[in-house]
Amino acid sequence: MARLLCPSIYSVDFNHLQQSIQALDAADSDIFHVDIMDGHFVQNMALSPQDLRVVRGNTKKRVDVHLMIENPGRYIDLFVECGADILYVHPESEVHIARTLDNIRAHGKQAGIAINPGTSVASIQELLPLVDYIMIMGVNPGFGGQKFLDYIVPKVDQLAALRERYGFQTLVDGGINFDSLDRLSQLDVDGFVVGHDLLHQQPIGSYGEILNQVRRITG
Ligand code: DX5
Ligand code: ZN
Repeated sequence: MARLLCPSIYSVDFNHLQQSIQALDAADSDIFHVDIMDGHFVQNMALSPQDLRVVRGNTKKRVDVHLMIENPGRYIDLFVECGADILYVHPESEVHIARTLDNIRAHGKQAGIAINPGTSVASIQELLPLVDYIMIMGVNPGFGGQKFLDYIVPKVDQLAALRERYGFQTLVDGGINFDSLDRLSQLDVDGFVVGHDLLHQQPIGSYGEILNQVRRITG
């Protein structure tokens, strides 16, 4: 199966957001990735429900929200209303994370967890039946353009071994570039977030060719 390519809206040309989305929509992309940061769960602030509405309004492809916020359960209705198809939450961000995952599915949406470099597979084992996707963080979340952390690779393998039993898909988010893809493409993983190193400050007109290049490496 072809890998899922998920362009990160955080890294596109925000002076021309609508054209950026339309170019990525026309390109070989699968799921739009929208990072939401609250300045509490991570030490940065980024994107908003309004940005999500703009993405939703310019594509019929699936849109995910990566909620790097405290107590995401309070905002599920809001992000669903703004057009998210897939909602990722961090297990550390809320006491009753299982309830939030159930609530996402109760809205008819797909549920995902994003796991930090320091979070083990063992610690999220009970959540595996509750999720459609697992976003394996290749960096500590909060900033674009950080270096890929090689020590997360064993986690990709561990989750690959559990994937069929539970029926989730895995993606890697953070630090994706042609170097890290050389290595990650050899692994049993379903997709990648295409972010800073591949899209930032690139002309909008080149997005299509960049995704084609990624596709040639990843299959
Ligand atoms: C990092 C975010 C990523 C980011 C993409 O906190 O979750 O989704 O937009 O990562 P980079 O920029 O490293 O490719
Ligand atoms: Zn992200």
